[in-house]
Amino acid sequence: MIKITVIKGDGVGKEVMDATLLVLNHLNLDVEYIFASAGNECFQKYGTTIPEETIDIAKNTDATLFGAVTTVPGQKSAIITLRKELDLFANVRPVKSLPGSNSLFNNLDFVIIRENTEGLYAGLEEYTKEGAQATRVITKKATERIFKFAFEYAQENSRKKVTAIHKANVLKKTDGLFKDTFYQIAGSFPKINNEDFYVDAAAMYMVTKPQIFDVIVTSNLFGDILSDEGAGLVGGLGMTPSANIGHQNGLFEPVHGSAPDIAGKGIANPTAMLLSAVMMLDNLGEKESSLKLENAVFNVLKKSKCLTPDLGGKSKTIEMAKEVIKNL
Ligand code: NAI
Ligand code: MG
Repeated sequence: MIKITVIKGDGVGKEVMDATLLVLNHLNLDVEYIFASAGNECFQKYGTTIPEETIDIAKNTDATLFGAVTTVPGQKSAIITLRKELDLFANVRPVKSLPGSNSLFNNLDFVIIRENTEGLYAGLEEYTKEGAQATRVITKKATERIFKFAFEYAQENSRKKVTAIHKANVLKKTDGLFKDTFYQIAGSFPKINNEDFYVDAAAMYMVTKPQIFDVIVTSNLFGDILSDEGAGLVGGLGMTPSANIGHQNGLFEPVHGSAPDIAGKGIANPTAMLLSAVMMLDNLGEKESSLKLENAVFNVLKKSKCLTPDLGGKSKTIEMAKEVIKNL
């Protein structure tokens, strides 16, 4: 039996999660869901955004489905804490144009893999006499791990090329190491093509000729920025899923937040959450259910029936989910 931690969170996080669980119940899965709290409502109740109990549950299950939380400045980030505690070192974000979406191109299908644990987000920031400074950490270990992951991902998903993105011309030591390590690891994967770009050029190519990309692998800050650029390319936040992968288990979440402007209206687009569940099932080896669910979502989008307002429709979250069930 598969054990899945479910963290609904706040706002539309709860709404898209309820819709997704409804759909998952119509797949023949041998699964147990364990519900856990995190986020701002959790803070109001328990005085913490991420209770120890939630971390324990997530550590001891095969995967975590995460809705979205409201982050109040000054509070501990639930999602960053979970990524750290579960050592979820790889953030995987597909950039795929789907029918019926507001994608800027109709033929995109690439994946951004972002190193999730170090780089400029290592958390080493301090005030100095002159102002403030942050340290950019690139370790050999984390770098090898993320490149190995990227090439194995390419292999397993029939991808043909991995592109490393860096700024080694300016960051000669940190990104020099990053780039050199990339080509060392690439040597072990002779069947997968490889190349590297400077991040500024890559940002331009992502809007001028994004079709050249297949699998992108990059460091934490560059990955953060490029993956939002990617989301923008294919129709925005309601459409984009993500996976955070570690050696033990993974956490799967839509890229969007709790959307306070539409929360409570029941009109959030469930696509990003549903496609995050697709990534989870695929990661758990449930390939058949994963494909079945993905096809059902794509069908609903293609038919443009029962879409939420952000996609130009008039339907509620739950109505779109029910239409997905009909298409399973
Ligand atoms: P947001 O992603 O919640 O919303 C941005 C815009 O996208 C809003 O106009 C919203 O209505 C729309 N949107 C988001 N999800 C949608 C969906 N499923 N369907 C249709 N439209 C959707 O980002 P925002 O407003 O910057 O942040 C709101 C709260 O969420 C903040 O407290 C923020 O810290 C938190 N947040 C949490 C994340 C997480 O839990 N991983 C990620 C990003 C933000
Ligand atoms: Mg971001």
